[in-house]
Amino acid sequence: MKISVLGCGYLGAVHAAAMASLGHDVVAIDIDEERIAKLAAGEPPFFEPDFPELLESGLASGRLKFTTDFSAVHGARVHFICVGTPQLDDGYAADVSQVDAAIEAIIPHITKHVDGPVVVVGKSTVPVGTAQRIQDWLDRDADPAANATLLWNPEFLREGFGVVDTLTPDRIVYGLADSPQAEAAGETLDEVYAEALRAGIPRLITDFATSELVKVAANSFLATKISFINAMAELCDVSGADVTKLAEAIGLDERIGPKFLRAGLGFGGGCLPKDIRAFMARAGELGADQALTFLREVDAINSRRRDAVVQILSRKFGGQLSGRRITILGAAFKPGTDDVRDSPALEVATRLSGLGARVKITDPIALDNVRILHPELQAVQDVDEALQGAEAVALLTEWPEYKKMDPAHAREQVSNPYVFDGRNVLAPQQWRAAGWTYRGFGRP
Ligand code: UDX
Repeated sequence: MKISVLGCGYLGAVHAAAMASLGHDVVAIDIDEERIAKLAAGEPPFFEPDFPELLESGLASGRLKFTTDFSAVHGARVHFICVGTPQLDDGYAADVSQVDAAIEAIIPHITKHVDGPVVVVGKSTVPVGTAQRIQDWLDRDADPAANATLLWNPEFLREGFGVVDTLTPDRIVYGLADSPQAEAAGETLDEVYAEALRAGIPRLITDFATSELVKVAANSFLATKISFINAMAELCDVSGADVTKLAEAIGLDERIGPKFLRAGLGFGGGCLPKDIRAFMARAGELGADQALTFLREVDAINSRRRDAVVQILSRKFGGQLSGRRITILGAAFKPGTDDVRDSPALEVATRLSGLGARVKITDPIALDNVRILHPELQAVQDVDEALQGAEAVALLTEWPEYKKMDPAHAREQVSNPYVFDGRNVLAPQQWRAAGWTYRGFGRP
């Protein structure tokens, strides 16, 4: 099937390559010329496992093309909207201008298709109510002969698992309008996702509003789970209990489950923080702000984790961070990605640097992004070199290589063996036995 993908970020580029791997004829579009040039040359503009292979095979097959020219969407039967919806600069709400720009750009190119209605598929995370507004817009401005039909199909992909989550998601959600052609639109998308559906992946059909809410509700739940265990870590800190054991014990209850109960520096990235804020903003607009006031607390608990590390390190140096040599292990918002958007580790690093500390930061793959955004930090690729002369070390992103670091070897690099384990992934006894002062979140 000929399909177009609008937006070539983590979501769109991976989606486009994944769709080409299923045999579809895909044109992917973005306004960022540099990004498109890279993708067209087979160079992934970001790190994502399995994506380079899909990109290369897609380009080689001739079924995957990248362009900045929107007229290339002409003749596509399905258009996927995969652009970003970041937090507005001056508030909590989501900025949907990229979604609107994509719709505006494709409308003139939506033309009658012999096989049925032209389907516009929204995948971006949007405030509830957006889908209906876009359908009304298509009804008003798109060629009536094309029967342009919107279908909301939220994406749940995790960075670092983008390809797997796109090809074999936990579930597929179709938000459909109450219109005569909606069923045909759903059948068209069934053809696109035929392989996943054949494999038995559940597909849920809902109305527009529910499908929009599924995504933000899921992310809010995940954020709440993380902040819950981080609140428990605060309690553990004042009572001498161990939050890692507590999480293990409550996680064995099937109703609770062990996932997303890792206490530490909290959540970051391009989704969870901005999604819970956009959700609160939208609830306020709809007059239901009370329903989500708990998310304010979820957000506050999460921010407190970042404050806590800065305070603990500051206190360690008697409130005088100026000139102190601190090494930060990890810059990405989580392991397995080079994404530093709203990265807790990077925020802590920049705050310490702002308070006068001499911060060295290391990360297996995210340092290029750090150098662009924070040239004031000393970005050091080699871990031993990063540790040289440190008076305090903070592990803030739990990359496997940091988890299995040898404390005795690390001890030889630093000038003062103090480690703050911001993700509770080191074995305190081993580190203490090697001469380190160890501190974690909610661990005695
Ligand atoms: C998230 C959702 O998981 C995904 O379904 C949605 O489509 C996009 O947002 P992602 O942003 O890739 O995906 O990150 P995720 O793996 O969910 O982790 C989010 C943050 O939570 C990371 O900063 C991670 O370090 C943190 N986290 C996760 C914890 O602090 N503790 C945990 O137990 C789990």
